[in-house]
Amino acid sequence: MEPITEDALTAEVVARLAATPDARLREIMTSLVRHLHAFARDVRLTEDEWFAGIRFLTETGQTCDAVRQEFVLLSDTLGLSTLVDLINHASSDATEPTILGPFYVPDSPLREYGASMVEYDDGGNPVVLRGVVRDECGAPVVGAVLDLWQNAANGFYAVQQPDVQPATNLRGRYRADASGRYEVRTVRPVPYAIPADGPVGRLLADTGRHPWRAAHIHAKVSATGFEPITTHVFDRDSAYLDSDTVFGVKESLIEDFVARDDGSVVCEHDFVLHRQV
Ligand code: BEZ
Ligand code: FE
Repeated sequence: MEPITEDALTAEVVARLAATPDARLREIMTSLVRHLHAFARDVRLTEDEWFAGIRFLTETGQTCDAVRQEFVLLSDTLGLSTLVDLINHASSDATEPTILGPFYVPDSPLREYGASMVEYDDGGNPVVLRGVVRDECGAPVVGAVLDLWQNAANGFYAVQQPDVQPATNLRGRYRADASGRYEVRTVRPVPYAIPADGPVGRLLADTGRHPWRAAHIHAKVSATGFEPITTHVFDRDSAYLDSDTVFGVKESLIEDFVARDDGSVVCEHDFVLHRQV
């Protein structure tokens, strides 16, 4: 047998995938093998480096549990989650989407128009978030549901602090009224570090990166007959808008949090939904 060359090895692995019955799986695996081999050739990967990578991925898996998803964190910090988002949401006049993140909890309490989602006082600055849900022609989307969640002034989401915050603190579902308007009483979100005590945090440190996210409120907005969106509202005064560690910031999602004479802070933000065809 002839000694196999690097290129011949890649071709042989790709050839063995040719019989994959599912055409999409065949396409994905073929491309994955080609890119993986090209990467190893490009950096001339050593055996120690290959094994360090295996150890890193093993530890990433071992760090996952019911509430911690280290692989999603890896995808987020490598920009892959945002790339998949860009690939799958062609530009339209609808509100731009951004990543879901690991702290979404379904079935948040339904709250009245204008009600507060603050159930635990840790000194956060009160904010009124309000605006209109409309379609791309400007018509109100009556009865749209806004599912919102955010962190407390201490930087943590309720799901991260089950012994400190009530489980439904700073999350709630609101319904847009007959004019498409919604209104929420909350506190100002703060910048926070993503969980950095695992392998992904170590990788960020080893590559000279910080683990911080710019302050934001998460929103999933849905209505019958419209494409649902998963997005954020970012605070224009926040640190880290230009270096968000998970690449989630988009200019159109940045809003002013305006201090009024009466001491209140108001953020006006409209959501635009794309009609299903
Ligand atoms: C978040 O915004 O909640 C989030 C997103 C990605 C990683 C960690 C947190
Ligand atoms: Fe978040």
